[in-house]
Amino acid sequence: MASLDTLLLGPAELAKAAKMLQAGQLVAFPTETVYGLGADARNGGAVAAIYAAKGRPSFNPLIVHVATMEQAEALAHFDHDARALAHAFWPGPLSLVLPLKDGHGLSSLVTAGLDTVAIRMPAQPLAGDLLALADCPVAAPSANPSGQISPTTAAHVLAGLSGRIDAVLDDGPCEVGVESTIVATAPVRLLRPGGLPVEALEAALGRPLEQDLNPDMPSAPGQLTSHYAPSARVRLNQLEGALMLGFGPIDGTLNLSPSGDLHEAAANLFAMLRQMDELVSDGNTINIAPIPMIGLGLAINDRLTRAAAPRLG
Ligand code: TXA
Ligand code: MG
Repeated sequence: MASLDTLLLGPAELAKAAKMLQAGQLVAFPTETVYGLGADARNGGAVAAIYAAKGRPSFNPLIVHVATMEQAEALAHFDHDARALAHAFWPGPLSLVLPLKDGHGLSSLVTAGLDTVAIRMPAQPLAGDLLALADCPVAAPSANPSGQISPTTAAHVLAGLSGRIDAVLDDGPCEVGVESTIVATAPVRLLRPGGLPVEALEAALGRPLEQDLNPDMPSAPGQLTSHYAPSARVRLNQLEGALMLGFGPIDGTLNLSPSGDLHEAAANLFAMLRQMDELVSDGNTINIAPIPMIGLGLAINDRLTRAAAPRLG
């Protein structure tokens, strides 16, 4: 692929970033979960360029980002559950997989030919402003090369994709730090644990949430194992080790949250995995302290399990 100059833009250059999206260029932008790699979701050439820049297999569909409920309703059918969840949690770290509506106008590359589309309305204020200004649905996977750790800063984006994308809009580190929770409807079920805790979804639905997380037959290909992988070997649920990523009282080289706060741990997770990866020398292992399976702990353990999974090559 031709090497591009990747512009680093600040919040004052928001209008320029929006114009670049409208012109079919690739612009990475912050959301409250992770940085996304955005393109106009109606523009087949721009969407194809996302897959090329990431080295992402074209059967793995993208999430479409919108600024308003009106935009979302033009793309997909909302049943009762979908409407209730959107009302309760948008804007926020929730993606809904919904049946496509006729005349949606999206490139078929976005949905990888499926008859459903994943939609999300991010809460990060600059992301909301960018989507409103660009005035188009924006396809955006996490802004990292396929199979690597998602970026939570503009520097992470540049480390992975510099020269392959047109610009990065920098608005500091992401507050949540893990990708959105993905829920499909009819029947309502969890496809990927993420930045919105399952407990909050179940409280809003008034019933337990079914799970559809089978890693061998993924409904969300992000469920495939050996994802989010640092280059070193990773071992979970360790109490000690030479290279140790701690949590709470189980301390280490770094600690995800000395006070045992799962929100702080999620926000630190990907940046600390990158830092640990840099500390590793050949053949070394990154040991990780146990993280409780409640709240954001589900998403943290999910990402760590993938980081520790056998490499597919
Ligand atoms: O927080 C996030 O969700 C970030 C930010 C940038 O929005 N995006 C993100 O995108 O994590 P990505 O591409 O890394 O993960 C999207 C996941 C993939 O696992 C994909 O398979 C799934 O969403 N997905 C997309 N469309 C789908 C569909 N129609 N049915 C099932 N899964 C879908
Ligand atoms: Mg991703």
